[in-house]
Amino acid sequence: MNDLDQLVQDAQADFERSVMPADLENAKARYLGKSGRLTEQLKALGTLSAEEKKSRGALINSAKQQVEAALNARRQALADAELEAQLKAEALDVSLPGRLRGTGAVHPISRTMERVEAIFGSMGFDVADGPEIETDWYSFTALNNPENHPARSTKDTFYVDMKDAEGRWLNLRPHTSPMQIRYAQAHAKKYAGEASMPDIRVIAPGRTYRVDSDATHSPMFHQVEGLWVGENVSFKDLKVMYLEFIQAFFETTELKLRFRPSYFPFTEPSAEIDIMFETGPLKGRWLEVSGSGQVHPQVIRNMGLDPERHIGFAFGSGIDRLAMLRYGISDLRLFFDGDLRFLSQFK
Ligand code: PHE
Repeated sequence: MNDLDQLVQDAQADFERSVMPADLENAKARYLGKSGRLTEQLKALGTLSAEEKKSRGALINSAKQQVEAALNARRQALADAELEAQLKAEALDVSLPGRLRGTGAVHPISRTMERVEAIFGSMGFDVADGPEIETDWYSFTALNNPENHPARSTKDTFYVDMKDAEGRWLNLRPHTSPMQIRYAQAHAKKYAGEASMPDIRVIAPGRTYRVDSDATHSPMFHQVEGLWVGENVSFKDLKVMYLEFIQAFFETTELKLRFRPSYFPFTEPSAEIDIMFETGPLKGRWLEVSGSGQVHPQVIRNMGLDPERHIGFAFGSGIDRLAMLRYGISDLRLFFDGDLRFLSQFK
């Protein structure tokens, strides 16, 4: 065996012993590096005669090709082994069933709102949305709520320690009634100067806030305001319309409606609307679902309308109350606790 054959054999054995890619690169340097054994051989060529250079050079080149071939083979083997190990570690059982992503559902309160909107929508009512942070003027003053009215007490209403650009105190609206004013004002403005104005027919569902908390009261709750104002709208229309709504909502005609005299500063006369089911688990009990009344002339004026010409009614119903009755829920707080065991029943 000549010295070059020995060199090739040594290189092959060296590469074979290399387990990590870094070992292999070190081994490579020992043969093909700057002062590696093969490189030294090539350098030594310079001292030979032209004739010797030719034959020795060919031998060295062939040795170099063998060393490089051995190196590449070992590199490939190490890469294959690494891939193999990785595949084993990341083994994937394609026969396992996939993980299901739970399907969501509309919250029962949102669902109830959508239901209310659909029913009133079918009766020709527009649906309006308004701010939850209101001014004192819209929440109370415009609604004929006198300065000393108990509803203005800090015990009942959440005030925000801030005033709007016009210096009016802000609060979290304690009812959706401010939307009566906001919507009617915009409507009156839109038709100002015209000979006649189409009736105002709107509902405004949304969040409302009061300092109140027990099984049937939450500091955040939901109402739907209703307003119908025109030149010839009477309490009779309210009765007919509300009965139609409540029957559609509960999907039964086996219920009665009662208008019980009451008081609100923004309606005169005023009434609470009670319902009584004639069948089912709630049968025979009067249940309060809404405040209502004929819009007070001062409120009509605050809307920018003429009380000599425009008349109408308003109502404000508790959406959470309607949802509780519809789904048979006795504790309002369940709606807002976010407990999936409760909520997933409404899928
Ligand atoms: N805003 C009243 C309340 O929250 C309800 C109501 C609305 C009464 C409209 C009459 C007319 O209790």
